[in-house]
Amino acid sequence: MKIKKTLCSRIKNMNFNNISFGNHYSDHMFCSEFKNGKWKNSMIKPFGDIMLSPISPVFHYGQAVFEGMKAYKDKKNHVFLFRPKENFNRINQSAIRLEMPKIPEYIFMEGLQRLIDIDRNWIPKKYGESLYIRPFLIAKNGILSAKPAKDYMFMIVSTPAGSYYKNPLKVKIEEIYSRSAPGGVGFTKAAGNYASSFYPTRLAHEKGYDQILWTDSSTHTKIEESGTMNVFFWIKNKLITPKANDNILNGITCKSIISIAKKEGIVVEERELNVSEIIEGIREGELKEAFGCGTAVVINFFEIISYRNKNFFLPKLPIHQRLSIKLKKKLLDIQHNLSKDDFGWRFRLKKYF
Ligand code: PLP
Ligand code: COI
Repeated sequence: MKIKKTLCSRIKNMNFNNISFGNHYSDHMFCSEFKNGKWKNSMIKPFGDIMLSPISPVFHYGQAVFEGMKAYKDKKNHVFLFRPKENFNRINQSAIRLEMPKIPEYIFMEGLQRLIDIDRNWIPKKYGESLYIRPFLIAKNGILSAKPAKDYMFMIVSTPAGSYYKNPLKVKIEEIYSRSAPGGVGFTKAAGNYASSFYPTRLAHEKGYDQILWTDSSTHTKIEESGTMNVFFWIKNKLITPKANDNILNGITCKSIISIAKKEGIVVEERELNVSEIIEGIREGELKEAFGCGTAVVINFFEIISYRNKNFFLPKLPIHQRLSIKLKKKLLDIQHNLSKDDFGWRFRLKKYF
């Protein structure tokens, strides 16, 4: 792999005492090209603009998929990726559904490790902070007819990440717009899934909500997910999450929380979850908590769920009684190498230089 290092690091402009999400990008990026049926020209180079033909299918037909993953530091500055093979497998499942070439494992893993190694100074050190890594695959060149491209580019960039949301969330159960439909691409991280959520999300923002709680497209009675999060509801001492299907992104954080909760002896149910069960649960005081989870967000609890223009306030539990906070700590402790990794999720990054 060719490596061209920057002559002028931008890290001095980065304020590690005030990290938000996505405002600064690390010094380098990884690129690999798919041309004439072969992957070639893998390289790491300084982060910067790329040149693409204006008729690249990524612009016209949205042939683009991506991933989100994180690198964490422990107290000795060792670097750990969290379950990177899961992201590798998922980007290829997304690629297959969007008629794009699969990325070979050696390109994904080698590109990822070398890039994060070169940019390891960009990984924040504080508990709960990390380097958010964005691998993505886009269709380039091609002709303007609605056909998949012949050439593709796989890239990885990264950004220091603090908390994605500063506060508990107000979410609105959606009954007009849909994020996905059976047989569609909801289970993938296709770029278009996000573009199509922006408009209904803005409408929700205008009414004072942070995010939409999506329901199934045909009946709007079954809960699916929220924003860029899978969701959990703690009802009658059971932790319930909608079972992954082709409408829902099969979240790596969600899977990890299910495993951690089960190990803690919590009853977890992955199943269809009706809106009515949530509203009744709140009305009858049986719903103790609801929260969303995802790589960028980690875990964030909800304070309001809105349904048909009525705000339902969730119990104001003290922090030490919150299951979401307990599970978040268990997860972050594993990610930061502060607790035993019983599940084998940590991936220690080697030093190349
Ligand atoms: N659902 C959507 C739509 C997402 O964008 C994400 C974020 O990646 C998730 C759920 C959570 O998935 P993961 O935990 O793998 O990041
Ligand atoms: C992630 O959590 O990785 C996401 O996909 C969120 C991102 C769209 C900001």
